[in-house]
Amino acid sequence: MVEFTLPRNSKVKKGKVWSSTDGKKPKRSKDFKVYRYDPAAGENPRVDIYTVDLDSCGPMVLDALIKIKNEIDPTLAFRRSCREGICGSCAMNVGGCNTLACTKAITDISGAVAIYPLPHMPVVKDLVPDLTNFYAQHASVDPFLQTRTAEPETEWKQSPEERARLDGLYECILCACCSTSCPSYWWNSERYLGPAALLQSYRWLADSRDEATGERLDDLEDPFRLYRCHTIMNCTNTCPKGLNPAQAIGQIKQMMVKRKT
Ligand code: SF4
Ligand code: SF4
Ligand code: FES
Repeated sequence: MVEFTLPRNSKVKKGKVWSSTDGKKPKRSKDFKVYRYDPAAGENPRVDIYTVDLDSCGPMVLDALIKIKNEIDPTLAFRRSCREGICGSCAMNVGGCNTLACTKAITDISGAVAIYPLPHMPVVKDLVPDLTNFYAQHASVDPFLQTRTAEPETEWKQSPEERARLDGLYECILCACCSTSCPSYWWNSERYLGPAALLQSYRWLADSRDEATGERLDDLEDPFRLYRCHTIMNCTNTCPKGLNPAQAIGQIKQMMVKRKT
């Protein structure tokens, strides 16, 4: 039988064991197993273990990471901004699922909390993925209103029903949890747009005020950009905002079919 193994330099090694407890045994503590990698250092990735006193820590996984960085190990790198599930910057893989660290409760995870960067993305450092390609793909769908008719004197109007069609789309915070959970995106991220960019594309296709529908669909008519979605549904299952990118992709495919009939 053929045995497959990872290249030596990509194997994840055991890391350091840290403690925030100064030798005192806390009443309630939790271990956090955190992926550490610095490409510039030329060393293999490792998993460090941090023991955190839960009685002096906020309730969310991000609170624990901030406590680790402030009190135990200032070299740990991660992104965060709003701490309210709005900016999308703290997206990471926690306990095996892509999610927002700031809205994931520590008590939701039994046992040690494993924290890795979003899967299948180049790592800038530790929990910080390189999202350059992801953002370029978002930009490529022209995520803004395009009109051809003359500007109205006041605003572009929508009926309440037309506005309601954008519900479940405009709330996307571009956290990348969905795209980085999609196997099709893992294997073809250079050519397949992935669920986040496609949900954003549909947000403008569904907008009654937008007048570039034909061009938008032409741009997606390609064996890879749209049609690499195989309805595996990981994207919808993982979205921390409860959105349904798989359904949005299905709606785009229906629009493609309708315009040909
Ligand atoms: S659809 Fe959900 S998971 Fe995907 S980028 Fe938007 S908010 Fe994040
Ligand atoms: S439904 Fe499509 S976009 Fe979502 S995870 Fe599956 S293949 Fe990827
Ligand atoms: S810090 Fe903004 S979404 Fe988590």
